Amino acid sequence: MVTISMMMQGSERKPLYKNPQAPIEQRVEDLLGRMTLEEKVGQMNQLVGIEHFKQNSATMSTDELATNTANAFYPGTTVKDMEDWTRKGLVSSFLHVLTMEEANYLQRLNMQSRLQIPLLIGIDAIHGNAKCKDNTVYPTNIGLASSFDVDMAYTIARQTALEMRAMNMHWTFNPNVEVARDGRWGRCGETFGEDPYLVSLMGAATNKGYQRNLDNTEDVLGCVKHFVAGSQSINGTNGAPADLSERTLREVFFPPFKAALQQGGDWNVMMAHNELNGIPCHINHWLMTDVLRKEWGFKGFVVSDWMDIEHCVDQHRTNINHKDAFKQSILAGMDMHMHGPEWLDAVVELVKEGQISESRIDESVRRILTVKFRLGLFEHPYSDAKTRDRVINNPEHKQTALEAARNSIVLLKNEGNLLPLDMKKYKRILVTGINANDQNIMGDWSELQPKDKVSTVLKGLRQIAPQTDFCFVDQGWDPRNMSQSKVDEAVEAAKDCDLNIVCCGEYMMRFRWNDRTSGEDTDRDNLNLVGLQEQLIQRINETGKPTIVVIISGRPLSVLYAAENVPALINAWEPGQFGGQAIAEIIFGKVNPSAKLAMTMPRSVGQIATYYNHKKSAFFHPVVCGTSKPLYPFGFGLSYTTFAYSNLSLDKKTLKSGSNETVNATITIQNTGKKDGVEICQLYINDVVASVARPVKELKDFRRVALKAGEKKTITFEIPQEKLAFYDKDMKYGVEPGVFEVQVGSSSDDGDLKKASFEVIE
Ligand code: BGC
Repeated sequence: MVTISMMMQGSERKPLYKNPQAPIEQRVEDLLGRMTLEEKVGQMNQLVGIEHFKQNSATMSTDELATNTANAFYPGTTVKDMEDWTRKGLVSSFLHVLTMEEANYLQRLNMQSRLQIPLLIGIDAIHGNAKCKDNTVYPTNIGLASSFDVDMAYTIARQTALEMRAMNMHWTFNPNVEVARDGRWGRCGETFGEDPYLVSLMGAATNKGYQRNLDNTEDVLGCVKHFVAGSQSINGTNGAPADLSERTLREVFFPPFKAALQQGGDWNVMMAHNELNGIPCHINHWLMTDVLRKEWGFKGFVVSDWMDIEHCVDQHRTNINHKDAFKQSILAGMDMHMHGPEWLDAVVELVKEGQISESRIDESVRRILTVKFRLGLFEHPYSDAKTRDRVINNPEHKQTALEAARNSIVLLKNEGNLLPLDMKKYKRILVTGINANDQNIMGDWSELQPKDKVSTVLKGLRQIAPQTDFCFVDQGWDPRNMSQSKVDEAVEAAKDCDLNIVCCGEYMMRFRWNDRTSGEDTDRDNLNLVGLQEQLIQRINETGKPTIVVIISGRPLSVLYAAENVPALINAWEPGQFGGQAIAEIIFGKVNPSAKLAMTMPRSVGQIATYYNHKKSAFFHPVVCGTSKPLYPFGFGLSYTTFAYSNLSLDKKTLKSGSNETVNATITIQNTGKKDGVEICQLYINDVVASVARPVKELKDFRRVALKAGEKKTITFEIPQEKLAFYDKDMKYGVEPGVFEVQVGSSSDDGDLKKASFEVIE
């Protein structure tokens, strides 16, 4: 340290760490050498923003806070305490700061500290920086995944990064790369769905889009979360235990994490709320150290999720008190605490008592400081109103949000080609349902936005079909408390209309945390429509007028009645700020739908877990009094045109095991209808006989193919041998000789797939 501290720069004797020209490793070491133990632990310390804190301390009780993961305050702590800690350089990061003004304010306080280490402001910018007013709100991840548009995921992440930096925010808690196979879990909407390969590609593109090389004032830190398996808890509820074999973890749940880190930049990981096979993720040495650091070579920092180290005491009961949990967590590999005032003193004490070495603390601090240097925060700690107003929700970003919404809406049923609607034929249209005219269309992780910025379905319809008379019967926003008389009113109104549009689904808005039906901590024990929604659809449909059902929801719903009885069904997921316009454009044929389900829609909750890449024996014995087939399979979605697949051929019949040889699969797709369209062509592989039971098929590639009416294209997928690898009996990863079946087509359903085989030989 002596040498380094002597390396002062120029006549002002500027410390080395303040010299932007110096290599980052040297800046980190120089700074670390100047820090007290308290300042070091302070770099591992995160708090909620003071406006968030003030608001909650005015409205919430300590009891309410005990299990609330969206709101926080610290009983016994004052705003002044938080400001003082910041001035002393004892806070590294704030979260839930929603304005640039507050971010700048906190940063200014922080700049009064001795070493002036900038704050890292974190926020859940899950689909755009949607918690902040006037920022662009894109479709949520499940819709984005249903577009199978990996480039779009990258673009959205880039634009989000620009908006965040303009707001002086530097760290988004996304991508969520959990594999979602259980629709009861309220967080499906913030994931990229059920397929490990699709989630991997989407997660990696998103993380890369946020970070690029993480060496720039236009990049933000991504957070690959939640490690791991919270999406498949034993009972479908958030934070409940996950009990999964190492095989399932490695085959299904790990790959997206590895891909998002290794291809998107391995700077940050958040641990999962749940215990995994008995060990809480937050004190799990195997996950944080053995797998993440030793096996995958992870170099970034690990952050805890919301008070989850504390939950090792009150929920998992693996630790006697918070201090003990903090210790175990750090020793297992934790670097930063989300969030609260207890951490600082407790961890300083642990070091002073010799329970944690200072060198272990240094490791965490190095990782965190490296990120702060790379983001250019030391040189650019503030933003300004001019930049903010130029960047957020600018025309280019709005266009992307609209385009992404168009590409994320799945047409599930279109009997008799009711859609697209003939504007001349249907003069008076009933529009009703809880999601007909509500900002809920934006989805979880967004706050209310200015009214003029959000296109609801009703607004979109009026914009796209200005000549049509839309008769709107408001059902309120709240599915749990629908009014019977409003349902009756809609049924009456349907009699005077030529056609009905019922917008149903879930309610996800965070500001009504306790009243919503989907989203974080909002898990369900069935997947039916809540409240009177089913009755509304049924009675309106029974008026005999053609009825279109539009679902707005982050999770797949078992809309059995609608699927069997109404002629047209659209699953729009949570399509974001321009969702209404995009839905209207699809209804009136200005846009031809192209999206395909990123998650299977089960017929009922009892089918869970229904996912397409199951083992063969999952359906050895069919269920009685029902069917094992889902309502709509993964990868399914209709278009206003038709596509015919033909001539699947492979360029080789055999492949030499262990060689660099690849197989090329070629297929011809023709647009056989009258409209231009985009087809998402999917390639699956089945290892026909293997030493361990393998899935009936696994998605290994896909392509979005634009085809004009009548046009034909031949496309080729290259299949390298690594796409055939799996974990054998001894958990060794590799390719086994034998026959592999290639399946190419328009969905994961066997009936939609062409098949051909090749063999891997010794
Ligand atoms: C969620 C995280 C989120 C954090 C901060 C937690 O409750 O599980 O995904 O990033 O809150 O909002």
